[in-house]
Amino acid sequence: MTVDVLLGLQWGDEGKGKIVDYLAPNYDIIGRFQGGPNAGHTLKFGGQKFVLHTVPSGIFRPGIENIIGSGVVVDPITLCEELALLEGANVDYADRLLLARQAHLILPTHRLLDKASELSKGADKIGSTLRGIGPTYMDKTGRNGLRVGDYFRPNFQEKYQELKKKHLGLLKIYPAFSYDLEKSEEAWMESMEKLRDLRVIDCAYHLRGALKSGKRVLAEGAQGSMLDINFGTYPFVTSSTTLTAGVCIGLGIPPSVIGEVIGITKAYCTRVGSGPFPSELNDADGERLRKFGSEFGATTGRPRRCGWLDVPQLRYTIMLNGVTQLALTKVDVLDHFEEIKVVSNYDFGNGPTDQVPFDYTGEELTTLMETHTGWHTALSDVTTYEGLPSATRSYIDSLERSLETKISMISTGPERDKLILRP
Ligand code: GDP
Ligand code: IMO
Ligand code: MG
Repeated sequence: MTVDVLLGLQWGDEGKGKIVDYLAPNYDIIGRFQGGPNAGHTLKFGGQKFVLHTVPSGIFRPGIENIIGSGVVVDPITLCEELALLEGANVDYADRLLLARQAHLILPTHRLLDKASELSKGADKIGSTLRGIGPTYMDKTGRNGLRVGDYFRPNFQEKYQELKKKHLGLLKIYPAFSYDLEKSEEAWMESMEKLRDLRVIDCAYHLRGALKSGKRVLAEGAQGSMLDINFGTYPFVTSSTTLTAGVCIGLGIPPSVIGEVIGITKAYCTRVGSGPFPSELNDADGERLRKFGSEFGATTGRPRRCGWLDVPQLRYTIMLNGVTQLALTKVDVLDHFEEIKVVSNYDFGNGPTDQVPFDYTGEELTTLMETHTGWHTALSDVTTYEGLPSATRSYIDSLERSLETKISMISTGPERDKLILRP
């Protein structure tokens, strides 16, 4: 059997949670492969809304295994809050929520380092979610990190104190930064103790066994390709591999088992945090996208920056990920627009190009726009592709041609059932 992949093609928040929740019944296992509680994946069904940060988005579907993979960084406090949310919703996760032994732990001091580093950058800050993601991945690659499996070893406290000491030393670089560690440390230790109840697995062996026995696996990405550590808008990125390549290193599977790669994009574009955003709208249309799309961060509540869809940017991330099909979300947000624009090409002074540059900020960039006629109809109750207004179909067909990739899913609302499938 193969591992299908679902990941975001923009700067995150494309609607990954909703689509994973929808697709989950087609799979036996959902595996998150990277990121941590910087993610906020929203699920809506039965009049209820849930936001997941660490737990994979298949957890509400009975009988499906959900794995927090080796490439994920775990904050036990956030994870325990999510477990409480699941318990409150009567979700029985006991045998279905699995935690990889190799996943790295976010310590309270990682959070402090994240905050102190961001504050020290002033106007040049990354706009981090301040969840300790960067410092934790730094300790991972620096070979200092603590992993879930370490907690079950007798020398864990010793290792923890050693790393904490190192962090406290580092915090001295920021003399203006004050903090209170005691309370969060206590809560962290308590949460770690609660995590003993979870099933801890060796992710690579577990998945090999599952695939051998014919189980179907879907890998769930967090963030988006433009936030990838290697190929995103560096340094305004997150600290993990958000691309298809990250599935292999984050779940412990070989590239040869990757099957379908489903790329998700909104029908427009958003970004939360700092960094380049070529199609950003600082005008009334941007405001309208934010208002009709409810574009406020699921993790931090920050207003998201909004802009038109960017074809060169998408062609780039489709290429990086080997996307085989697309899910187009939030098409209903465009119901309110007379005209819908799309960036068709860039011009850096030498004519049209669809190449994403080394660094957008160092270039004089003109975005070449294409205009589509709006449809002025509410799409949310349409259930078939043929039932969509012809202007919507013509917009989608035109995107398919520009992106050279099939759009197989069209999402027309936040709820689970607001999805049009195109066979
Ligand atoms: P994720 O991080 O990729 O899972 O996305 P988020 O949950 O951070 O943000 C997506 C937001 O859009 C959430 O509030 C979803 O409920 C909402 N959403 C998802 N799909 C649609 C859609 O097709 N239409 C509308 N209007 N909202 C959607
Ligand atoms: P989901 O999975 C949108 C952004 C932050 C910041 C940069 C680095 O919900 O799509 P970090 O905390 O990782 O050090 O922040 O990345 N960012 C996200 N933006 N959606 C996310 O996740 C994000 N996770 C991180 O805003 O600009
Ligand atoms: Mg999100």
